[in-house]
Amino acid sequence: MSTSPDSVQRFRHAWWKDAVAYQIYPRSFMDSNGDGIGDLPGILARLDYLQWLGVDVIWICPIYRSPNDDNGYDVSDYQAIMAEFGTMADFDRLLSEVHRRGMRLILDLVLNHTSDEHAWFVESRTSPESPKRDWYIWRDGKTDGKAGGPPNNWESIFGGPAWELDEASGQYFLHLFSRRQPDLNWECAPMREALYGMVRWWLDKGIDGFRLDAVSHIRKAPGLPDMPNPKGRAQVPCFPLHMNVDGVLDHLDALCEHTFRHYDVMRVGEANGVGPAEAVEWVGERRRRLDMIFQFEHLALWSRNPRAGLDVAGLKRVFGAWQKALGGQGWNALFIENHDIPRVVSLWGDVEQHWRDSATALATVYFLLQGTPFIYQGQEIGMTNTVFDGIADFDDVLARNRWQERVAAGERPADVLADLAITARDNARTPMLWSAAPGAAFTTGTPWLTPTPNHARINVAAQEADPDSVLNYYRRLIGLRKAERVLVEGAYHPLMASHRQIYAYCRGEGAGRLVVIVNLGKRPARYCHAGLMLAHEGLLLANLPVAPHAPRDSLQLRPYEARVYRVGAR
Ligand code: NOJ
Ligand code: CA
Repeated sequence: MSTSPDSVQRFRHAWWKDAVAYQIYPRSFMDSNGDGIGDLPGILARLDYLQWLGVDVIWICPIYRSPNDDNGYDVSDYQAIMAEFGTMADFDRLLSEVHRRGMRLILDLVLNHTSDEHAWFVESRTSPESPKRDWYIWRDGKTDGKAGGPPNNWESIFGGPAWELDEASGQYFLHLFSRRQPDLNWECAPMREALYGMVRWWLDKGIDGFRLDAVSHIRKAPGLPDMPNPKGRAQVPCFPLHMNVDGVLDHLDALCEHTFRHYDVMRVGEANGVGPAEAVEWVGERRRRLDMIFQFEHLALWSRNPRAGLDVAGLKRVFGAWQKALGGQGWNALFIENHDIPRVVSLWGDVEQHWRDSATALATVYFLLQGTPFIYQGQEIGMTNTVFDGIADFDDVLARNRWQERVAAGERPADVLADLAITARDNARTPMLWSAAPGAAFTTGTPWLTPTPNHARINVAAQEADPDSVLNYYRRLIGLRKAERVLVEGAYHPLMASHRQIYAYCRGEGAGRLVVIVNLGKRPARYCHAGLMLAHEGLLLANLPVAPHAPRDSLQLRPYEARVYRVGAR
């Protein structure tokens, strides 16, 4: 990869560092034709809203042709638009209207797997002699190739074995995700070339970049060995053998070399398994592989114990490590929500007593770190988890697989349902709540997933009109990030690092630095940093009214109170 001082310089002033990004889950954003499914003309109809909010970059989850086993992450044609979402002409119009408004558009790039309906896979499965056989990962079963059991003991990330038997040939194919998402074989050069060509085709259309789905999984451990299995289970989770495996960066280098390097585009990788110590390898300025990655470490704080509430000290540890690792050397992608996790205000806030304040406090904490902030649709109005009455209410293949597995293993359905209700991805996939109208103004028809029942209270229309709403707070937050260079460029300095409720940090040094102070707890808490004087005239943003006060270095914070001050003269 190029490491000339010139390219490092260009990287330092990249446009995507100034940007605020907004993630759209197209199925649930806006339906234009009353079929209950969001679509591209629907997104077009809401571009003015995104511009009003202050969004610079829009990331749309997959819009390619797909049988929707995993809602578009199972692509059956990379160069066609899913019929339910519209046509390529709709896409071209959307792209030019995004650009006309001075915004940019990035797409989701699913390179680890395709749908089993993709022509490549259809051809690959015709016979072991197919010229495309090697484009996917086919193996004989363990017992003498007679399909006596899967080739190894890997468990799929979506549950069950990671291998599916093809009756016709007696061989198995690998699928790290659903059995309808066969993994592409990145060790196969013609397959890689085909992907490069497809990526260039989109870039030549003028899109502004990609979010690279599951990119840390594209390389598997050579020989696909069994995972150690002391308990002798049929399958075991095997992340060390397919996630961030040695050699994955070589694949990434080749991809960059053949595609991105020749365009001024933004590349954000979904990089489960990559830690801060290796982050520079992935997004370092000298390497120029990716521009930023979505790391998973703060999500693990939640997923390890979904009922425990927010571990504030843990969050500071994780975010702090990433800020430190990439400070001056790379760039962070900042996020607290996406389409794969429940709503943050339900996970980590307090929807009962402090819904608005906890939504805005959580917003303040992550948004003003160094990096490019991403907002997931509905996060900006504090959308909450939804209500599920039974398994029929879930759409997600992952939730349905988990249900089946656990109920088959003898667990009580009510217990499984209770777990899924707080962990399921469908919580984030309910329709965008545009108004209190039936269908939440997302659709005039029957929505594909029921809107969250609280939409009479939580919706865009109501919040646009309310200056104290979560939505208008996000607008102010975005405005602040755009107005203050130090929020883009300034280094991160943690304050009160081990406090169990307060998350506070400085951005930049000396006069003009900003200090972000947030109480992430339900109880009042005392902030103090000796000598760092906070003057009322320096108060730039607050999520609760603040009475004029004399300069001071300590504050009594109310539950979920957030303030941002400028310290000293500009
Ligand atoms: C990560 C995506 O965000 C998720 O929604 C999807 O199910 C998997 N990758 C598989 O593509
Ligand atoms: Ca529609």
